[in-house]
Amino acid sequence: MVEIGIVVGEARPERIQFLAKDVVRVGEFVRADTVDGRVLYLVESSKLESKLLSKVGDYITAIEAREASKVNPRDTVRHCTARAVGLIEEILNGRRVYPTLPPDPGTPVFLAEDELLKRIFHNSSKEWVAVGKLLRRENVTVSVNLNKVASRHLAILAATGKGKSNLLALIAKRIAEKNGTMIILDYHAEYHELKIEKVKFVPPRINPRYLDSEELADMLDIRSDATKQRDLLRKVYGKDVVKSPDLWGTLKRKLESYANNEDEEFQTRATASRLLEIIDRGLAIKGKIFDTEAESPLNLIEPNKINVLDLSELTETQAQIIVAHYLTEILNDRKNAIFKRSSRFKSPVIIAVEEAHTFIPQDRSSRCSDVLARIAREGRKFGVSLILVSQRPCKLNADVVSQMGSFAISGLTHPKDQSFVMDVTDEVSTELGATLPSLNTGEMILAGQWVTVPALVKVDHVEEKHMGKDLDAIELWAEEANVRRKGISTEELIRL
Ligand SMILES: Nc1ncnc2c1ncn2[C@@H]1O[C@H](COP(=O)(O)OP(=O)(O)OP(=O)(O)O)[C@@H](O)[C@H]1O
Ligand SMILES: [Mg+2]
Repeated sequence: MVEIGIVVGEARPERIQFLAKDVVRVGEFVRADTVDGRVLYLVESSKLESKLLSKVGDYITAIEAREASKVNPRDTVRHCTARAVGLIEEILNGRRVYPTLPPDPGTPVFLAEDELLKRIFHNSSKEWVAVGKLLRRENVTVSVNLNKVASRHLAILAATGKGKSNLLALIAKRIAEKNGTMIILDYHAEYHELKIEKVKFVPPRINPRYLDSEELADMLDIRSDATKQRDLLRKVYGKDVVKSPDLWGTLKRKLESYANNEDEEFQTRATASRLLEIIDRGLAIKGKIFDTEAESPLNLIEPNKINVLDLSELTETQAQIIVAHYLTEILNDRKNAIFKRSSRFKSPVIIAVEEAHTFIPQDRSSRCSDVLARIAREGRKFGVSLILVSQRPCKLNADVVSQMGSFAISGLTHPKDQSFVMDVTDEVSTELGATLPSLNTGEMILAGQWVTVPALVKVDHVEEKHMGKDLDAIELWAEEANVRRKGISTEELIRL
């Protein structure tokens, strides 16, 4: 038992201040006794101050003050604040109960022992999985509760390059180990080299029969301001087309009848011809996405697997339309499962949304924001949960994010992002939020229901995920120049 500090100043049940004997880093766990029992505290700020040096105004005095400070140990003050994360005995029983009173001034502050932290953070029950180590204690493994992710949602909010996709890949790996069902909406083709067990790569497919004419127009890349083309498509895309066994043939024949009809206005004929070109081009480029035979897109998604849905070749709107259809079907399927009707997914499904601000933007609605909001609100009842991943939290719909039960946060520098995070989770205080920019890649604050208590964690690196590294431009240029020197043709170069 090593005393590392003494409670001073104004102490409150939820936050104490203490003067430390030695270095105490932010993210460290300490403990102190209160009348309610032993309390665990998370150090949120750590300041080092020299009273002599803080008041000097010129260089000569600074030199003198430095010498005086060196021989006067009282001059250097280590001032820390720490937030109560709960009564230790209750935490050990899996409950978070906060103290009702602060420790008395003068109470000794101890470093929480490794053994105690191991008992708190490492849980080997079947719903808990390891994701990393405590940042300040490399020998303490941190486990998270997957059941909470599968029922109460998770948001991974961190600046670019801080390890969001690595954490998501790690969660996917752990879910696979538990035979879970997960769908990763892969907007930047980041996961197509994910080499974990039970991964299935799913190409996006949609049956145009389930699309309305506006959605079909978007899927065919018809500009949103091309009102004449959209109007004509709406006119021809009727039940006869949707129900026809040869949907594209019927649609094209109807358009041809406009294009070739001398009685039609010139403008209408030109619009019909243009639409025919657009459809041919769309089918040539994106034809694989349309499947007029598919009963449900869900048939491609497999239960008990990590399904990676590659959205990388779609525009933002097209990706939103596909996501809306998939998620609506999944939610309905899980409702059927709960009400004991026939269903594809008999157990909960976790949906991970990379670049979530693209799908649930803050200031407008998207083609899939309704269904995502519905899952955020009601998914828990039906066993459908979300993992939202974003580097710009303040651009996310705040109502949806407020439904997230757990958080992984790192490296946010923009004040708007920081205050957004503090608004949606009360476990990230202003003091803790101020440390976010200084966190390195893979270092994250884990908070909310999936952890026993909030903590600063060094997340494990997933070797099975190769994507996401910054390109080594210097090396790649040198390689290409080398290949050219050897006289290899451009075609061969592309193939390399
Ligand atoms: N916990 C970790 N330990 C070590 N390296 C890591 C860790 N997490 C991520 N990295 C590495 O850092 C780089 C960026 O990681 P990652 O792609 O996961 O970041 P990201 O937050 O998803 O970035 P982006 O915003 O660009 O999508 C990768 O090279 C990855 O291997
Ligand atoms: Mg990423």
